[in-house]
Amino acid sequence: MKFLIVGDILGKPGRRALKYYTVSHPNSFDVLLVNVENSAGGFGIDRKVYEELKSMGVDVMTSGNHIWDKKEVLEFINSDDLLRPANYPLSVPGKGYGLYEKRGVKFAVINLMGRVFLDPHLENPFHTFDRIYEEVSRQTPIILVDFHAEATSEKYAFGMYADGRASVVFGTHTHVPTADQIILRKGTGFVSDVGMSGCWYSVIGMKPEQIINKFLTGMPQRYEVEEKEDVVFNAILADIDENSGKCLSIQRIQKYISRDELKEL
Ligand code: FE2
Repeated sequence: MKFLIVGDILGKPGRRALKYYTVSHPNSFDVLLVNVENSAGGFGIDRKVYEELKSMGVDVMTSGNHIWDKKEVLEFINSDDLLRPANYPLSVPGKGYGLYEKRGVKFAVINLMGRVFLDPHLENPFHTFDRIYEEVSRQTPIILVDFHAEATSEKYAFGMYADGRASVVFGTHTHVPTADQIILRKGTGFVSDVGMSGCWYSVIGMKPEQIINKFLTGMPQRYEVEEKEDVVFNAILADIDENSGKCLSIQRIQKYISRDELKEL
């Protein structure tokens, strides 16, 4: 079973990159997972963008610290195909994991958020994983984890911790793809960050001048998605054995797409 795993989709350029890639590679994957926390104008997700992503065939949407940025998300946060980090307190709306089925194969997706340099108030994601694993592993051996975190060390520690239990652990949040995709010793596919899809001539998807100004002056700035330039699509293609849940291969995908190519959409 082939899973196309897409990291942070950065605003409209990210959505166009996703559309371009999926339209031009229609039969290269069975399931499409996308982190959507920056998909609407760079901050959060609104209903229009949620519907647009669904119409592109996204099967499961994961997220992270920006999931709450658009208030209207509260109206559809309980949708089956939309996850927020599972290690928020139980009283927080939405859910952090789900069981899904595609082409007759059951699989689980768990969304976790790291605490190092991010949000120390969350439950320890290692403990959250143990609890959810206990439940979902009775239903399916195919378990994918979006570990949305800042620190590479935390991502690696978690990958090793989940080795042999998760099918794939993929990192998101930094927007920068890492070239460390590997199958760990007990069969878990791992990458510390999938990287974003969006305008590549940017500072992690945003207009460079605003971020440079922030570094020059230290004053608060309004950040806007860079929309003028060519885009990059970053993803991971993971092939998972349906019976054992082990990762058979994990491959990094990076495609630069010019403005002219995007016009063909
Ligand atoms: Fe994030």
